[in-house]
Amino acid sequence: MKKNNLKILGIETSCDETATALLVYNIKNKDFQVLSNIVSSQIPIHKKYGGIIPEIAARAHIENILPVIKKSLKILKNPKKEIDLIAVTQGPGLITSLLVGIETAKTLSFIFKKPLIGINHLEGHLAANLINNPKISYPAISLIVSGGHTELGLIKKAGGYKKIGQTRDDAAGECFDKIAKLLNLGYPGGPIISKIANQFQGKKDQNKINLPKPMINSNNFDFSFSGLKTAVLYLIKNNKDKLKNKNFVQNVCFESQQAIIDVLIKKTIKASKKYQAKTIMLSGGVAANQELRSQLKIKIAKTDSALKFLVPEIKYCTDNAVMIAAAAGLKYQKLTKKQKNQLKNNWQKLKPNPNLNI
Ligand code: KG4
Ligand code: ZN
Repeated sequence: MKKNNLKILGIETSCDETATALLVYNIKNKDFQVLSNIVSSQIPIHKKYGGIIPEIAARAHIENILPVIKKSLKILKNPKKEIDLIAVTQGPGLITSLLVGIETAKTLSFIFKKPLIGINHLEGHLAANLINNPKISYPAISLIVSGGHTELGLIKKAGGYKKIGQTRDDAAGECFDKIAKLLNLGYPGGPIISKIANQFQGKKDQNKINLPKPMINSNNFDFSFSGLKTAVLYLIKNNKDKLKNKNFVQNVCFESQQAIIDVLIKKTIKASKKYQAKTIMLSGGVAANQELRSQLKIKIAKTDSALKFLVPEIKYCTDNAVMIAAAAGLKYQKLTKKQKNQLKNNWQKLKPNPNLNI
């Protein structure tokens, strides 16, 4: 008899979060039940450097991975027996960080005698949109915005994906992080800038700081954020005396965040019109930004009341392993019997790919 419920252990170590999750995917109903979602963040470790140090990240993953796996499996009586599939992030990401998750997943697959599947981290971000929304109207436009990627994709039908645009330099999250570093605000920049931007009480039209919105009107779906970062660098250099002025810093955060949001929204709406999308999906760490979420939602409603907007819960926007397990469920169900059998020996073959594309 065909089993409808797949119990999937997800492992994610592509960057600076050691994350594991246990998910049940119902193949028939195409819905997900999250049994555990454990994220051990390395932010306190990397904070003092103002960014991620790959060597330190890998060491921390090694220390964290087994306790985190143990926590996520606590709910099962006999994990070795009950788990049906092990899913691990294969890339993109930092090679040394990826290796920790992959080698651990291989070991478990070998010992538990369970199939092992490698998952693209961006496919994971995208799949986070499906966790509470099994029925999607296609075509859909996906915007993935994270610390490493800013990518627009066209999804004509379930499981399909075609990249239609990406950043040519910095990613949106990277831009938040770099601007926060220039302002000495700490790491990661996105949540800090967003918090300070919300405190801005000044008149938004008076004493306006004019920041560039690179490529906002370009005739394609690509992005570029390094010019914005450079503009903030010069603004700070020319206004060193104002850096202690709370209102000035709040104003810079407000305008930087708005410049990023304006570009992201303009291009996403343009893509949805061109491809007559029925759904817009937002995901990735920057999708945790409240202003982006609400401004995009309002713009979509104004553009076309029939256009649906999907965005994951905040905890599934930033890196987590639920999204990796969810992507694994969707991928696994499409495999042939032969391909599924091959996954049983994948512990011998799976290799990280830091530059993996969707
Ligand atoms: O997806 P993610 O957790 O890791 C990568 O795959 O890169 O994204 C991390 C990025 C960081 O650049 C961080 O500053 C940004 O997401 N981020 C935010 C917010 N929360 C996280 N950016 C803007 N607003 C936020 N609330
Ligand atoms: Zn990510």
